[in-house]
Amino acid sequence: MTTASPLTLSPIVAGLWRIAEWKLDVAARVRWIEQALALGITSFDHADIYGDYQAEALFGEALKAAPSLRARMQLVSKCGIRLRSAQRPYRLSHYDTSAGYVRAQVEQSLRNLHTDRLDLVLIHRPDYLMDAAALADTFVALTREGKVAHWGVSNHSASQFALLHQHHPLATNQIELSPLAMDALDDGTLDQAQQLGLRPMIWSPLAGGRLFTGEDAQAMRVRTEMEAIAGRLGISLTTLAFAWVLRHPSRPHPITGSGRLESLREAVAALDVHLEPEDWYAIWTASKGHPVP
Ligand SMILES: NC(=O)c1ccc[n+]([C@@H]2O[C@H](COP(=O)([O-])OP(=O)(O)OC[C@H]3O[C@@H](n4cnc5c(N)ncnc54)[C@H](OP(=O)(O)O)[C@@H]3O)[C@@H](O)[C@H]2O)c1
Repeated sequence: MTTASPLTLSPIVAGLWRIAEWKLDVAARVRWIEQALALGITSFDHADIYGDYQAEALFGEALKAAPSLRARMQLVSKCGIRLRSAQRPYRLSHYDTSAGYVRAQVEQSLRNLHTDRLDLVLIHRPDYLMDAAALADTFVALTREGKVAHWGVSNHSASQFALLHQHHPLATNQIELSPLAMDALDDGTLDQAQQLGLRPMIWSPLAGGRLFTGEDAQAMRVRTEMEAIAGRLGISLTTLAFAWVLRHPSRPHPITGSGRLESLREAVAALDVHLEPEDWYAIWTASKGHPVP
């Protein structure tokens, strides 16, 4: 049995959901990874289903071309969604956390990423048919085989997290948080993360780009407020959005989604920004559309 060292992710994590859209050839993908590493972004977030099941292989081609990069990074992946697509013509998309499926997808991620070990694997969405004890056995088996160092979940409620955590230690819950998506502040997931001392991973910190392009009333209110604060602080809107997430006491790891190095740089710059509560709450207030009660 391999004993895993404690999980350490870089403060900012790079997300690869959209890698296929970046249209980079293999050499450019290698350069992009090297530049991310140079910025201090050493953790890379994947999922088996990203890019219609093709994204991991794009990243893996880069690791195959430059194998020395692997030792300088932490690889995160996810499984548990059977996504209906041309690749997988299921009758409908559904969730599957059975031993056979989790094992098959982990082994596929290993092949696609050209690695023999994943640093962290997350159950992507809560599977209502999950047998927690059986899934914990699967985690133990894949850990013992040296294929996965740490386990976690994504998009799980606090009680769903607690159920699985009781059977097997989980390292994190990867959840959505941004100035346009604030449910996690109230739904107990971030409270639980603090209670357990497990830093959450945060997806879509820029609300998938809606922060910049959204034309709905909430997006426009938040953008106006954030542009004023960012202007006063002399930082970009991206930096301010990451600083707003990072200000939460659960010590979250926000995940970037952009292929542009400048966007990654702006995310990393947020590590040097400490928002005053008045500014943090001004963004909260703009998002809600009403003052605190
Ligand atoms: N666990 C889950 O269920 C889950 C769900 C979603 C995502 N994730 C993870 O979280 C990562 C980040 O999610 P995300 O991609 O939604 O993150 P995000 O940072 O909220 O959004 C990234 C998107 O915003 C766009 N954007 C950034 N700056 C912009 C600007 N100035 N103007 C207009 N558009 C701009 C980017 O386009 P450009 O590339 O042009 O900058 C990109 O399309 C994913 O890669 C994935 O790893 C996990």
